[in-house]
Amino acid sequence: MTAQQQTVYLNGEFMPLSEAKVPVLDRGFIFGDGVYEVVPAYEGVPFRWPQHLARLQRSLGKVRIANPMDDAGWTGLVTDLLSRHDWRDQFVYLHVTRGVARRDHVFPADSKPTVFAMSSEFKPVSRDAIERGVSAITLPDERWLHCDIKSISLLGNVLARQAAFDAGALECLMFRDGYLTEGSASNIWVVLGGKLLAPPRDSLILEGIRYGLLEQLANAQQIPFEVRRIAREEVLQADELMVTSATKEILPITSLDGRPVGTGQGPGPFYRKLFDAYQSAKAASVAKGWPRP
Ligand code: PDD
Repeated sequence: MTAQQQTVYLNGEFMPLSEAKVPVLDRGFIFGDGVYEVVPAYEGVPFRWPQHLARLQRSLGKVRIANPMDDAGWTGLVTDLLSRHDWRDQFVYLHVTRGVARRDHVFPADSKPTVFAMSSEFKPVSRDAIERGVSAITLPDERWLHCDIKSISLLGNVLARQAAFDAGALECLMFRDGYLTEGSASNIWVVLGGKLLAPPRDSLILEGIRYGLLEQLANAQQIPFEVRRIAREEVLQADELMVTSATKEILPITSLDGRPVGTGQGPGPFYRKLFDAYQSAKAASVAKGWPRP
């Protein structure tokens, strides 16, 4: 299926991607005034759907956009969208803006949120790439102070990701005041001293849906897990580094700023355990199914 055959959802209607149009005065276009979600769906079952719905509600609440749909409405939309494509695994992009209004920074009194959704083929990273691991660079975190909101205003993230790409790396590890925050589009995990470390879930990072999942998986695997500020020097000495996101799942970082991570022998033991546990969690989600309206 080519991109042009994708069916998307825009403001209550399904249509070919090429026919989906929004007015130029949409505040998403003018101000980046909106929020989004990226939800992986394996064999037609969105993975950790209730958590994605809850985060969407949180993001909308923080930017004071009224949720245009209730949970059943979102579930119905996603069910319908997934059923229109025959890819085995898909990832769904959900996007809500404050709507169309005359350009003024102040919220319009009566705009109706714009709702857009599309689904794309989900191609898991190859086993080969997992065995090689991925490379990352370090960068200062130059973004705003509300990174907990899954905002469509992503210029800081875009510039960081481009800097990584220009350096031949997949991701960047960003630091604010000498402490690790996250990647340009992912959360970062550090293995040091026999523990899995994660930066605090505060407003300096987006709490990924995989954040809570990895915490659960680590507990189930008896991997010591600690949430705390992680200094740059600790990251540089890490035994293992990993990255998680909806589309990357969980990947080992084997090279940082051109230097090998840990022993330099590829994915480490913590990674392997968590990768296997992640795959089992996916299989369990497919077996369980999800509430269809
Ligand atoms: N990004 N931090 C940032 C800045 C992100 O953009 C993402 C995900 C994450 C991980 O969140 P999750 O586990 O819920 O995917 C952390 C998505 C995939 C994107 O923008 O495409």
